[in-house]
Amino acid sequence: MRIGVLSGGGDAPGLNAVIRAVTKTAIFKYGWDVVGIIDGFEGLLTPTKTRQLTSWNTRGIMFVGGTILGTTNRGNPFAHKTVVGGKEIVEDMSSMVLSNIGELGIDVLIVIGGDGSLKIGHGIHKLGVPVIGVPKTIDNDLMATYVTFGFQTAVDTATEALDKLHTTAESHQRVIVLEVMGRYAGWIALEAGMSGSADVILIPEIPFSMEKVAERLLERKQAGSKSSIVVVAEGAKAVGGETAVREKTGDGYVLRFGGMGEIVGDEISKRTRFETRVTVLGHLQRGGSPCPFDRLLATRYGAAAVELIAQKKFGEMVSYQPPIITSVPLENAISCLKHVDPEGELVRIAESMGVSFGR
Ligand code: F6P
Repeated sequence: MRIGVLSGGGDAPGLNAVIRAVTKTAIFKYGWDVVGIIDGFEGLLTPTKTRQLTSWNTRGIMFVGGTILGTTNRGNPFAHKTVVGGKEIVEDMSSMVLSNIGELGIDVLIVIGGDGSLKIGHGIHKLGVPVIGVPKTIDNDLMATYVTFGFQTAVDTATEALDKLHTTAESHQRVIVLEVMGRYAGWIALEAGMSGSADVILIPEIPFSMEKVAERLLERKQAGSKSSIVVVAEGAKAVGGETAVREKTGDGYVLRFGGMGEIVGDEISKRTRFETRVTVLGHLQRGGSPCPFDRLLATRYGAAAVELIAQKKFGEMVSYQPPIITSVPLENAISCLKHVDPEGELVRIAESMGVSFGR
């Protein structure tokens, strides 16, 4: 048995822990061969880019951020883009990927990815290649698993940033806005916002009114608070407004969000006259060492992916349904995104403690 493993999409803390667990379980328990594909699906195009994985070259990577295999969130072999003579050409390269998988002698492909990469993995599986998915994204927006690895580390990083912002906001009697990642899901904003005792949390699932946000900040000031902290998810938007987008593809897919923190900060300072500053946390949320929870989850996912191969359960994604790791068909895993429930427990608790979602 020869397993191919690749990481696709944006990186997330814990990727190396999955690669390590796949390699060690495959080698030590089953005596199988593992080959790493470099730069996600790009590594399966011609010329292929691969690296033999061994228990030696996967040593000492558990705590290392990023991915030793490299990744890209722009390489889709079903709609591969190249620029020829200044013109963008989109081609379906999936047959090349298929024949390269055959030539490399790969019997089964493990795709560690979020929504986009798992969709590509599912597409390759439908063309006849046995594929296993491992759910990764700091956004935690995959429906078919309780949590993705990388998310908890991102929440830790954002919470630590909030702890720091509180002290400087208080010294200067300021409002500080922190913009966090998450695409169309408000999980990072909600969980970090609550852990970091934010006063206002704006998430994509609850369109906000700037009037309500300003009202809450003015009320706090009147009640004697010297400073306030506002967390804004990058995908948040005002009631009847638009999300702040930096880059889109021709067909409307958002490649890069960004700017909502500034918009909210400007409005706050106009409406309240409070001195306001904005911090964009950006890729700090994706980099660095995974927290112990993510190391363990990633290790369990990697080992479970190899067990699925042993059971010949192809076309499945490993899934955490606490307390166990099980699996779900890839098809279900990619069918819809997981959003924060605007009436869910966490939102209700926050509101009952005075946190405003701008509604
Ligand atoms: O999906 C993970 C994520 O970090 C999102 O939260 C964010 O919108 C996006 O990727 C950023 O992508 P890039 O690395 O291309 O800027």
